[in-house]
This record gives sequence, structure tokens and C-alpha cells, in this order.
Amino acid sequence: MGKSSKDKRDSYYRLAKEQGWRARSAFKLLQLNSQFNLLSNATRVVDLCAAPGSWSQVLSRTLPPTSTIVALDLQPMTPLPGVITLQADITHPSTLPLLLSHLGNQPADLVISDGAPDVTGLHDLDEYIQSQLLLAALNLATCVLVPGGGFVAKVFRGRDVAIVFAQLRCLFDRVTCAKPRSSRGSSIEAFVVCEGYRPPQGFQPSLEAPLGLGTSFPEEEGVGQDGMDVVRYIAPFIACGDLSAYDSDATNQLPDVDEDGQKRSSIDPIQPPTAPPYKTALEMRRQLGGGGVLR
Ligand SMILES: C[S@@+](CC[C@H](N)C(=O)[O-])C[C@H]1O[C@@H](n2cnc3c(N)ncnc32)[C@H](O)[C@@H]1O
Repeated sequence: MGKSSKDKRDSYYRLAKEQGWRARSAFKLLQLNSQFNLLSNATRVVDLCAAPGSWSQVLSRTLPPTSTIVALDLQPMTPLPGVITLQADITHPSTLPLLLSHLGNQPADLVISDGAPDVTGLHDLDEYIQSQLLLAALNLATCVLVPGGGFVAKVFRGRDVAIVFAQLRCLFDRVTCAKPRSSRGSSIEAFVVCEGYRPPQGFQPSLEAPLGLGTSFPEEEGVGQDGMDVVRYIAPFIACGDLSAYDSDATNQLPDVDEDGQKRSSIDPIQPPTAPPYKTALEMRRQLGGGGVLR
């Protein structure tokens, strides 16, 4: 599919390039923020699974200049002003000390994670891997969040998502499932927005005994002793962003001129991938003289 056909098909992709965002995901965080006011009091924010960096761009454009923003991804990230970028795996135990050292061992107000696996198309497997990423992000969040802090993460709304919501409710005052307008309606993607970090009394966050490996919380109203494993919680569902804005599933032809009256033309992505998985294949093809068939 050519660049211009994607431009026509996906207005958020095109608008992202026009507005200087590295990815169309920027609109998801902007729409979540307009609904939940996530960034108004935050000055120390961790962006997990951050490459290519559009959420970090939103943070650096929105937060006060003295804020601490730490962004982390498996992939290398092209630097961004005001953002500490780290290459690390959120599922690896060495990532927590790395993160804490860049936070100056001070707690964070907000942890956001847009982590996504390379989807296989096998829905159960994709949902499982996605939930493991969410769990890894949550384990890191419990170790760095200030009481009262927030956590936002991508979630796939699969069959057992109510168990994930129940686990999150053990740790936060409010848990909402939010679907920004820019997230395709046809996709099971949504975002869990957790406000008011409030770990149960006696809970010791630790990657030595991470959540999800049999951790049980003290009995609490509405949670139950085995709440980590069995209780389901139906989180309120909120569609957010301007609901009259572009439908991300529709093929939209943007007006020929932009808001400033400038004629629209197809433009290159703001930040091409630094280390895409297909890089080796491209190099091999180049060595074969450009048109070779790779075997
Ligand atoms: C949808 S992209 C994130 C887009 C980003 N929020 C933005 O606005 O540019 C998902 C990212 O998750 C990262 N990821 C997946 N598994 C990871 C892991 N175990 N540790 C760190 N990052 C991971 C991928 O490398 C990918 O860059």
C-alpha cells in the first residue's frame, strides 16, 4: 500500500504527519488526556513502550519544562527534547533499577504504557502476550508510583479482561476502560485508566515477587481474598475524544486545504523507524542488487 493511499484511508495518520507527531498514537493520548485530565498535575512521568515516541512528544509539549520524562522501549528511540530515552525490556528485572536511577530515586506521578506485541493474528495468543505486557508495566508502576498517582495502559478487550480490571481495582481507587476516537472501533484495543494509586496495607511492591505470580492481597471490601485470581470487575466504559471527529475506521478524504488554507500534499513520516524488523531484509536485497528475491 502506497503512502498516499494510507493518507486517504486514515485521516489520523495524515494529521499526525501534518502536526509533527511521530505516530498517529499521539491522538489517543491527547483524547485520553482531554477526558481524564491526566497531565495537568503531573511533572514526573514514565512512558513505557514509547517508540517511536509520539506519546513522549505529547508529554514534552504539555508538561512544564522542568518536568522529568523517562521514555523506554525495546527499540532505540530518536532523542526528543526534555525526554530521557532508554532502550530496555519492560519484562526484564534489570529495567527497574535503570528506571529508578533516571528518576533520581524519586517517585513518578504517572506511568503510561502503550505496549503492544507484534500481533500474530492468533487472537488468544495476542491477548495473552498483551496482558503479560500490561502486567509487566503494572509491576514497574507499583515500584515507582507515588500514592495517588495514575497508570494508563493499552489493553485488549478479550474474554477475560474483567479479571485484569479486578486486579487493577485492588491497587487504584478508580479503574475505567476508555476508547479514544482515534483508536479503530473495529480493534479490540482500549486503554485502562487507573486513578488514585492506593496499594493495600502491607503490600510490598517487588519484582522478586511480582503481581501475577500468586500474589494475594489482604481481604478488602469487594475484592475477596483470592481477588487477584478469580474476581471480575466490570469497569465503566468511556468513549473519549470528540465523537464527531474523524472515524478512524472510515476512509476519509481530508479537505484539499488545511486549517491554514495551505494546499494539502502527501508528506513523509516525521520519524521513520530506527531499527525496523525488516531492516535486515532490505539490506540483503540491496546486496543482491535491489531486485533480488530473498530466500
Ligand atoms: C504501539 S507502539 C508504541 C507507540 C508509542 N506510544 C508512540 O506514541 O509512539 C508499541 C511499542 O511497544 C514496544 N514493546 C513491545 N514489547 C516491549 C517490551 N517487552 N519492552 C519494551 N517495549 C516493548 C514496541 O517496541 C513498540 O515500540
